[in-house]
Amino acid sequence: MANFKLNVNGKTHNIDVDPSTPILWVLRDHLNLVGTKFGCGIAQCGACSIHLNSMAVRSCQLPVASVGNGNITTIEGLSENGDHPVQKAWIENDVPQCGYCQSGQIMQAASLLNSNPNPTDEEIESAMDGNLCRCGTYIRIKKAIKRAVKS
Ligand code: FES
Ligand code: FES
Repeated sequence: MANFKLNVNGKTHNIDVDPSTPILWVLRDHLNLVGTKFGCGIAQCGACSIHLNSMAVRSCQLPVASVGNGNITTIEGLSENGDHPVQKAWIENDVPQCGYCQSGQIMQAASLLNSNPNPTDEEIESAMDGNLCRCGTYIRIKKAIKRAVKS
């Protein structure tokens, strides 16, 4: 066990946990931020995507010890009232089906727009390629990202 001071969604938290614990489980089990989902556990599906310093990372494979003073953002902290442009575009386009993959999809899309506010179709395709959706909502996801770009 070791003590970590983590910056999550603009607040500081002190957590006692094994240094190798993936940040996903710190968020879900210690901070009750359960919007971030466990899918594959091997960085292959994107369900667990969060932001570290505004860029999307796979929280299932990120040990708590490697986060340092970085700013973590989860789906709960992406916006105050669910009104981030990506979240608004998701609602307008009725993107989710079962919803399980969707917080990861939204965090990945928001990260893309943080680094590239006006992506081409190919850039959207490439940025979202690693986020899987068993319900096949891919067409609506792309439409919503384009909507968010225009807003
Ligand atoms: S659960 Fe992390 S990438 Fe699948
Ligand atoms: S909406 Fe069901 S897995 Fe994506």
